Amino acid sequence: MHDPLIDGMIRKLWMTEADLYREHLLRLDPASRRSRFGGAVADAFIRNYVDISIGLDAVIHGFFVDGVLRGAAELRPVGSGFAQEAEAAFSIERPWQSHGVGTALLARTLLVARNRGIKFLHMACLAENRRMQDLARKFDAELTFDFDSVIGEVEAAQPTPLSLLREILADSHSFATAMLDVQSRMLKSA
Ligand SMILES: CC(C)(COP(=O)(O)OP(=O)(O)OC[C@H]1O[C@@H](n2cnc3c(N)ncnc32)[C@H](O)[C@@H]1OP(=O)(O)O)[C@@H](O)C(=O)NCCC(=O)NCCS
Repeated sequence: MHDPLIDGMIRKLWMTEADLYREHLLRLDPASRRSRFGGAVADAFIRNYVDISIGLDAVIHGFFVDGVLRGAAELRPVGSGFAQEAEAAFSIERPWQSHGVGTALLARTLLVARNRGIKFLHMACLAENRRMQDLARKFDAELTFDFDSVIGEVEAAQPTPLSLLREILADSHSFATAMLDVQSRMLKSA
């Protein structure tokens, strides 16, 4: 059995990659789609949603396998200016669920939230989502959750030189592997 985290890679999405995000969300099976959006939503809703959400402020991490986006974590500040609150939402395609991808994506999202000074994290549809709750609990040292109000408080929501460095290192490593990924796709299609 393959370990998806070894076969895949996590990196931030570029603004030009809205199509990849849209296709990923449209591929979610009905139950995952319901959990992601808090109810059954039509394809047209998802198309509009991506057009809006990929805007300037969102930070979206993607989990890629062979160049295909199979999971995503979206962090979007709520309000304008130096927002202290953000919304986080996760989506992993069914064959890649329960293999630690959500855990890895939440770790990266928390690092970015901390580096942006985000203090409160609203987790979409957390209240009734057991698996998402279990996932959030794994981070209770960094995130205090009130499951009823689906708001998590980010502990020490201040960037430190080390936390900034960790994000920069993750991004530069992802950039190198993203380039390798593009190259290998080009070689395959040559
Ligand atoms: C919820 C979701 C993000 C979790 O991501 P994941 O990659 O499946 O989760 P992980 O493999 O990292 O597991 C996280 C924890 O969830 C629990 N978990 C995982 N799979 C489980 C399963 N099949 N049954 C019960 N609990 C499970 C475990 O506690 C696990 O921690 P552990 O591996 O240390 O035991 C993912 O399943 C998903 O996208 N679901 C559909 C959309 C959704 O619900 N989004 C969240 C709302 S925005």
